[in-house]
Amino acid sequence: MIDNKKVLFSGMQATGTLTIGNYLGALKNWVALSEEYECFYSVVDLHSITVRQDPAELRKRARALLTLYIAAGLDPKKNCIYYQSHVSGHAELSWILNCFTYMGELNRMTQFKDKSAKHADNINAGLFTYPVLMAADILLYQTDVVPVGIDQMQHLEITRDIAQRFNAIYGDVFTIPEPYIGKVGAKIMSLQDPVKKMSKSDENPNASVYLMDDPDTIMRKFKRAVTDSLATIRYTEEQPGIRNLIDIYSACTGKTPAEVEKEFDGKGYGDFKSAVGEAVVSVLKPVQERFYELEKDKTFIDSIIKENAEKANYFATKTLRKVQKKVGFPEKIR
Ligand code: TRP
Repeated sequence: MIDNKKVLFSGMQATGTLTIGNYLGALKNWVALSEEYECFYSVVDLHSITVRQDPAELRKRARALLTLYIAAGLDPKKNCIYYQSHVSGHAELSWILNCFTYMGELNRMTQFKDKSAKHADNINAGLFTYPVLMAADILLYQTDVVPVGIDQMQHLEITRDIAQRFNAIYGDVFTIPEPYIGKVGAKIMSLQDPVKKMSKSDENPNASVYLMDDPDTIMRKFKRAVTDSLATIRYTEEQPGIRNLIDIYSACTGKTPAEVEKEFDGKGYGDFKSAVGEAVVSVLKPVQERFYELEKDKTFIDSIIKENAEKANYFATKTLRKVQKKVGFPEKIR
């Protein structure tokens, strides 16, 4: 608890360009949570180097992501928006927690299996202990709730196991985090292969709509979206393409899938795709405008980076000191 509010932590990687999946599925919902919780939203750059990155590109993307958090509506005075690499406590706690995590547990992580298959030439130890760093992120702030997608649920489970194991030995050190279950964000699928999640690292540029795509590009991608030959706009498992378009339209307009079915009853796929494209364009427009404005204001963004790193450091250090003492490190002489 901070100021009588429960603590919420989440983070995103600055690898790839954010898609409307990241926005409609996560970022947009984060904004709604900031009144109720004390929120920490990190740009998790330590995680990013588990796969090889171009340094200049990573730096640029990290700043763009941080700016996007704000452009999407997160007030940086109320939400702690910061770079993970600016708070050394993440790496320090991660080391300690490594010593409380078993190889067997990490071996079971499906994301590790997927990523090591994808990056067979660089299966590094960081990729293997990625979930431990994530546990450190969460536990460092005594987090109560973590809004995560289903693909990160296994990492939250291991975080809870590590925290419980540590607490069983040393007493009540860590708050045990819960997944945030509430209005969950829409899970947006690929426009080219609608049984696959829309991904920022998809090789086919038509599969994903990026947050910063211009209106023409957005309209074109929706026109090319893969559907089916049933020629009916129904929200069913048999029509994953149409179902995904309905989800996107619902997320943009606030209408329920049933309302969308009704609205487009008897209409053709062409008309529907255009309507979805237009809805996305109008949702993204204000975010993009604000992004370009913020991007120009270097002094403001820099001040946010500095202030929030200090704030995060303050809370991180509190937990870290406690942990260091528990495991038997000598006190620093000041
Ligand atoms: N691994 C998460 C992802 O790729 C990002 C992340 C890192 C995270 N640390 C976190 C999410 C802590 C929630 C809480 O999506």
